[in-house]
Amino acid sequence: MDLILENDGLNKKSEPRVLSVDDQLFKGFSKLTFDERLAYLKSNGYLNSEDVKFMKTGGLKDVALGEKFIENTIGYFQLPIGVATNFVINGKNYIIPMAVEETSIIAAASKTARWVKENGRIETRVIGSEIIGQIQIAKVKDFERLKKYIETEETALVAKANSDVAAGMVVRGGGVRSLKLRKLIRPDSLIMSVIHVQMDAVDAMGANIMNQVCEYLKTPIQENTDEVVTMCILSNLVDSKLTEARIVIDKIDPELAEKIEEASLFAQLDPYRASTNNKGVMNGIDPILIATGNDWRAVEAGVHSYASQNGLNGNYGSITKWFREGTSLVGVLKAPIIVGTVGGVTNLHPMSQMSLKMLGFPNANLLSQIMASVGLVQNLGALKALTTVGIIEGHMRLHAKNLALGAGAEEAEIPYVQKKLEEILTIKKRITLSHAIEVLKELREQIQSKSN
Ligand code: MEV
Repeated sequence: MDLILENDGLNKKSEPRVLSVDDQLFKGFSKLTFDERLAYLKSNGYLNSEDVKFMKTGGLKDVALGEKFIENTIGYFQLPIGVATNFVINGKNYIIPMAVEETSIIAAASKTARWVKENGRIETRVIGSEIIGQIQIAKVKDFERLKKYIETEETALVAKANSDVAAGMVVRGGGVRSLKLRKLIRPDSLIMSVIHVQMDAVDAMGANIMNQVCEYLKTPIQENTDEVVTMCILSNLVDSKLTEARIVIDKIDPELAEKIEEASLFAQLDPYRASTNNKGVMNGIDPILIATGNDWRAVEAGVHSYASQNGLNGNYGSITKWFREGTSLVGVLKAPIIVGTVGGVTNLHPMSQMSLKMLGFPNANLLSQIMASVGLVQNLGALKALTTVGIIEGHMRLHAKNLALGAGAEEAEIPYVQKKLEEILTIKKRITLSHAIEVLKELREQIQSKSN
């Protein structure tokens, strides 16, 4: 059975794409060779011949693009990019491009997504639409006068910013929406004021335009209030635009559900655990940010500052929550995931365009929902492993290949070393590079003695 994806949630330029909703979709994908994977993606319409050629010839070579992005360019740092499979989000199939160096992230995401697909569902939404810019006045002379000015002139200032700076954004359905005045008491008891500029940046991440708007508003504010604006910059703590993903696993083993609920409570109560829990969530989100050319530092900053208000004790807490509801396990992730699908690197980098193509050219809101879903699935996979077999089992088995490579094993030697390391892991519950070196040494000695 085939499904034509509708264009809701997708950028206008994207063509409807045919995806199979057959459960067999991508079954066995991980067993394919590099060439077969690319051929599969091409034959299913995710990539075209040009894309496949680009991948096979090793990606970016011409340093001219790097020169456009940064200063003092000396080449490229290349990360592997892979695809996570089995994701069904809001009833639609997705293949997830992930650029990441850490072993087991893509395998765990795909495996856990299959478990979710077979036993439950992922639903998502975006709450709010506005990003935040800050205009700071370090030492306010007359707060009441400033307050009155903002109250009476807000509409006019918003209109001017929209016509003079954010006109393009207004055409796309966004623009500056409102101004909010905040009062902060300084240690010297003077007043610091911050004017928050609220803006819908539509499909842009919005940093540049927001900074321009804030700097533009600085002049009328200074001229009409006699205050001195100290600095203007967007805020990454965007609590006015949150992305939510929700996973429900039906009829789950009650013992497992309780374990995951307990692990979640641990991360809500204890900032030391919350940090690692959230790192695991970002294992799912950062690789998509990178693959789509988005500013991962901004999202990291936003997520962790939001998490700092999230703990049950008012301290840094988990951005995910897992709890039992009847016979189901429910997981919720809520966090600011501010991304763009237009502008900057996203437009210029061929890999970002390929990643967006594989995702069906989502708009910014949908892209953030895909990221939240993968982050939550990644978290579920980690909690399931941690509370059952332990992290070593899944993680280290895949890590065995890296250890084999690290020990200097040649391609033909890797399967043997990997297998031996897995045997050691089963017995000793741990494997290290020394084990890999030892196994490789033994293998080579055996071959040597046979050939003598
Ligand atoms: C490792 O990259 C991520 C985990 O530590 C996440 C977690 O502890 O929840 C396994």
